[in-house]
Amino acid sequence: MLPNVLQPRATDHVPVLADEVRACLAVRPGETVVDATFGAGGHAALLAADLHGRGKLIAIDRDPTARTYFERLERNVPVSARLLRGDFGVVLPQLADNGVRADAVLLDLGVSSMQLDRPERGFSYAADAPLDMRMDPTQETTAAELVNTWSERDLTMIFRRYGEERYAKQIGRAIMRRRKEHPFARTGELVDTIKAAIPAPARFGDGHPAKRVFQALRIAVNDELRSLEEALPAALEMLRPGGRLAVISFHSLEDRIVKGFLRERERGCTCPPDFPICVCGHEPELRAVQRRPIRPSEAEVAANPRAASARLRAAVKAESRS
Ligand SMILES: C[S@@+](CC[C@H](N)C(=O)[O-])C[C@H]1O[C@@H](n2cnc3c(N)ncnc32)[C@H](O)[C@@H]1O
Repeated sequence: MLPNVLQPRATDHVPVLADEVRACLAVRPGETVVDATFGAGGHAALLAADLHGRGKLIAIDRDPTARTYFERLERNVPVSARLLRGDFGVVLPQLADNGVRADAVLLDLGVSSMQLDRPERGFSYAADAPLDMRMDPTQETTAAELVNTWSERDLTMIFRRYGEERYAKQIGRAIMRRRKEHPFARTGELVDTIKAAIPAPARFGDGHPAKRVFQALRIAVNDELRSLEEALPAALEMLRPGGRLAVISFHSLEDRIVKGFLRERERGCTCPPDFPICVCGHEPELRAVQRRPIRPSEAEVAANPRAASARLRAAVKAESRS
């Protein structure tokens, strides 16, 4: 019998923008698909089914609990598949450097329901649990360590930058005061400190008062933005000409990185406009599938509120001209 945390549950992750992802990646039999954020395997199962038993699935996730879901997928979908455990910001560059090539790459960023709904993982402000937030539990730094050891300046900076938290300064100061007496160990202690640090009306405003600080800590603990910045060029390098990339982000920081990357690689000539002929020789490396990100329908958000902030951007790798 598997330990409780490894049991798939009824709250398994519902894949977000599933039809849109399938349409953008347009997987065909015989192709190689990389799902760099395997999670509970929702998207992977759909993409693997599109291979119709021919082709390969390479799954990546830094969370070891993904293995149980991967084994379930292997039992249910006839596909040649491998699961690589690790940070996609490291694994994708390694695969690219080793000459592994793919026809479709998916990044569905952030945390999954299997992480959010397990209070013991410490991602949720809704339940009192150890202040952890590591996607990879073998990693050393936890949210508690960060909250107990980082300077007020650094904490304030991440709350502001990664959480867009208006009361970052007040919360940073309150954390410093409390931790002198009692270091933080649990999510509930942090939630209470945040609530006490912000003005009363703000406690009832835009969502849960701890939402933005928890997002900021999660991004910092898992170094999420750095991973994304490392992953995107590697994903593009891995793609064969005509290969497709799809990225789902859940907040503006991620989306800005994805959008900036697609814009930069989509640009052709970078010579100043007054140059009579091109001297840079720069050619577009990809073509963005659409200008604006694809958002979930109202019906999807009603059925799965976690989809509300999702934005999908997709691109096709340019055919090589040589
Ligand atoms: C939103 S979930 C993906 C859910 C999946 N698409 C599904 O349908 O079940 C994101 C997953 O990506 C993983 N993840 C996030 N950042 C990662 C990273 N830098 N490297 C590897 N896995 C990562 C998380 O552990 C989580 O399982």
